[in-house]
Amino acid sequence: MTRSSHTGGTRAREDRPGEEKPNPKPWGGRFTAATDRAVEAFTASIDVDARLLDVDIRASQAHARMLGARGILSREEAETLIAGLDEVRRRLQTGEFRLDPALEDVHMNVEHLLARVVGPVAGKLHTGRSRNDQVATDMHLYMKEAIDRLIAAVRDLQRALLEKAEAHLDVIMPGYTHLQRAQPVLFAHHLLAYFWMLERDAGRLADARKRTDWCPLGAAALAGTGFPLDREMVARELGFSRVYPNSMDAVSDRDYLLEFLAAGSILAMHLSRLCEELVLWSSEEFGFIELDDAYCTGSSIMPQKKNPDVAELVRAKTGRVYGALFGLLTVLKGLPLTYNRDLQEDKHGVFDALDTLEAALPLCAGMIRTMRVRADRMVAALENDFSAATDLADYLVERGVPFREAHRIVGELVLDCIRQGRRLRDLTVEELRARSDRFGPDALQRLSPQAVVAARKLYGGTAREAVERQLQEARAALGEPAPPEPPPPPAGR
Ligand code: ARG
Repeated sequence: MTRSSHTGGTRAREDRPGEEKPNPKPWGGRFTAATDRAVEAFTASIDVDARLLDVDIRASQAHARMLGARGILSREEAETLIAGLDEVRRRLQTGEFRLDPALEDVHMNVEHLLARVVGPVAGKLHTGRSRNDQVATDMHLYMKEAIDRLIAAVRDLQRALLEKAEAHLDVIMPGYTHLQRAQPVLFAHHLLAYFWMLERDAGRLADARKRTDWCPLGAAALAGTGFPLDREMVARELGFSRVYPNSMDAVSDRDYLLEFLAAGSILAMHLSRLCEELVLWSSEEFGFIELDDAYCTGSSIMPQKKNPDVAELVRAKTGRVYGALFGLLTVLKGLPLTYNRDLQEDKHGVFDALDTLEAALPLCAGMIRTMRVRADRMVAALENDFSAATDLADYLVERGVPFREAHRIVGELVLDCIRQGRRLRDLTVEELRARSDRFGPDALQRLSPQAVVAARKLYGGTAREAVERQLQEARAALGEPAPPEPPPPPAGR
């Protein structure tokens, strides 16, 4: 098979017997030599942009329909192109047609295959259009739909966190700062912190989507076109909210991809933090949760091991998403207007980041939904710590002692306890009173984790009533009505 057979019917001249084409590409007219093989391989993007196939066909159909409506092509020609493009899609699906790397990218492949279906009229599809506005339109379309899927996946992880929080409203755990036990909190409160992080992620993605919703088609190569295109009609048919007002900006803008990657990077960072907690909590040292077997793997040498590999890999894959952001920022830096082939390098990282997030989000939701919460281990962890110390100081403050002074007094009590190997709650009222006569017998009641949690009932705090209010707001954020009665927490889970 000769190279020239790749491009068949789009090249009318080739059909003339006796005429040799030095370069058989669709753009080969001004060339006197064939493309070097290594150059062909280096410049091809088909392995990455093949996934634009469906949006490329849809965008071409909208373009063809508009060309027909404006009388730039006859209605009949437009209908032939539209039906032909459906046929190209069908034959690619059945495997009858294959994409050819020698044809560089998805756009030239589709046009070439269209010619095999409808003949030379395929050559009219590209009227008033360039691959520059074509690829930009494809990417905008693709990313709009991808962002919608991603937001739905974020929402589902939020739902998983909310349900887990609701089901464990009575579980108290140590809250940490500096990874040192700080103050007891409701486990539900801790989980809901991630709910709100993800709420902001969904908002950032939705915001990026607004600017993905602009249609570049009609910008042509860079300057627009002399054909009387109806850009609004194409945009409307493809579901875009508006068209780019500047053709040069339209073909060179990749901000919407940067915004996606920036929002995606923050999202990935949040998933990494969540997964780090799952790794810590599922360790024997913490033992706060047990991850389901379905989300763990074993060791090839140590028979006892059950490793949180999914959580670890989600944590690690954050690097790929950041990498894509920095990769594209670097590609764009210093690029002159308008289209430069550099822009072809936008896709690899964007698709990789997208795939990474789309894989990670449901796995995180699955881990949360299936993990076993070990409330007994959390309570046991609170037994021996000093996480009620602030509340003992607050007790003195309520009785008129300046906070700094109260802080010092309780600090000394803690030091006494550490030296004697005791806990705050082992102290007697007399021992407390030896440090401050403001201590009364009720001071010791302030030391239980339950009392510490219950005290923090202000908005956003960890007391059960505050967390219940938070749950209500979380449910509202997901657009879900409050359940008539909160379900009773199932034992053990
Ligand atoms: N494959 C190219 C890309 O992804 C399509 C646009 C090519 N345009 C051009 N003038 N070579 O950017």
